[in-house]
Amino acid sequence: MSRLQDRVAVITGAGRGIGREIALLMASQGAKIVVNDLGANTDGTGSTMIADDVVAEIKAAGGEAVSNTDSVADVAGGERLIQTAIDAFGGMDILVNNAGILRDRTIFKMEESDWDAVLAVHLKGHYCCTRPFANYIRAENRTGCRIINFSSVSGLFGNFGQANYAAAKAGIAGFSRVMALELAKYGCTSNTISPGALTRMTIPLRENRGETIEESDMEAGGPQHIAPICAWLAGEESAGITSEIFHAARGGIAIMQQPRIIKQFKRKEGVWSVEELDTLVPQLMEAKKANFEAADASAKPVVS
Ligand SMILES: NC(=O)c1ccc[n+]([C@@H]2O[C@H](COP(=O)([O-])OP(=O)(O)OC[C@H]3O[C@@H](n4cnc5c(N)ncnc54)[C@H](O)[C@@H]3O)[C@@H](O)[C@H]2O)c1
Repeated sequence: MSRLQDRVAVITGAGRGIGREIALLMASQGAKIVVNDLGANTDGTGSTMIADDVVAEIKAAGGEAVSNTDSVADVAGGERLIQTAIDAFGGMDILVNNAGILRDRTIFKMEESDWDAVLAVHLKGHYCCTRPFANYIRAENRTGCRIINFSSVSGLFGNFGQANYAAAKAGIAGFSRVMALELAKYGCTSNTISPGALTRMTIPLRENRGETIEESDMEAGGPQHIAPICAWLAGEESAGITSEIFHAARGGIAIMQQPRIIKQFKRKEGVWSVEELDTLVPQLMEAKKANFEAADASAKPVVS
């Protein structure tokens, strides 16, 4: 029995890379797929019809799919995308917000256009596609739906030269937590993926370091490693798992820490003096260090 039999999934940016692998795997699990992709260059410029190629691949393998080439950065585009699923397949159950671009620059050189373009595709893109889906869920009382959002270690840990991308990706983690709260009443979940994969987004970084990407590198670290956790989260088995961040890369599958207060001091009355903080802040830093050390120790991979 296929886990996603007759579930309808919209996957943004599914013309290549991670999105394409998710589309192919979900289709093989019985889902009906809307392959969204405007076929942009890595910096968001240009457009080609690559979504049709993935639709053809899915159909050749016996699956069901239609394409959509709207930009996720556009409110009307997001609405048309969700409507495409409803028109083609009579409903919608799964949204994977995966589309993305890069415009890496340090803050010294980051132009307004670099900032706006990256925030538009990533952070606003999540809003543009999720809002019509959420409204559809509420209007139809469509329970058991799944939203899977795409963050990055760039936003969760920080990465030099990616202030625009990191701001968007950290924002997406926050957005996802709020979707988990707002859609819980409909039995719907919202989770976040932090992926690491060799795609056209990341291969140039390796090549710039003088490395050559071999087929064995693609097998060990290609985008196919991200698809299984997305397909699992899309299925019934993930009911009740919401607001989480899963990290997947190179055969690894992990759960991330969420922001939590680690240690606190509290006055019964009055306000801490600045001088009192001279002794308290170092104790907070010690508690944080111990917390990170414990997390790093438990994060050592269990290899099978
Ligand atoms: N590859 C990694 O290691 C990595 C790491 C962290 C996060 N991510 C995230 O994972 C997601 C997928 O990345 P990837 O590596 O597969 O990249 P990719 O460049 O291979 O694929 C992204 C796809 O999104 C499409 N796209 C871009 N703008 C769009 C728009 N406005 N509307 C619709 N489609 C659009 C592109 O045409 C492209 O096909 C992205 O959100 C990315 O930020 C990837």
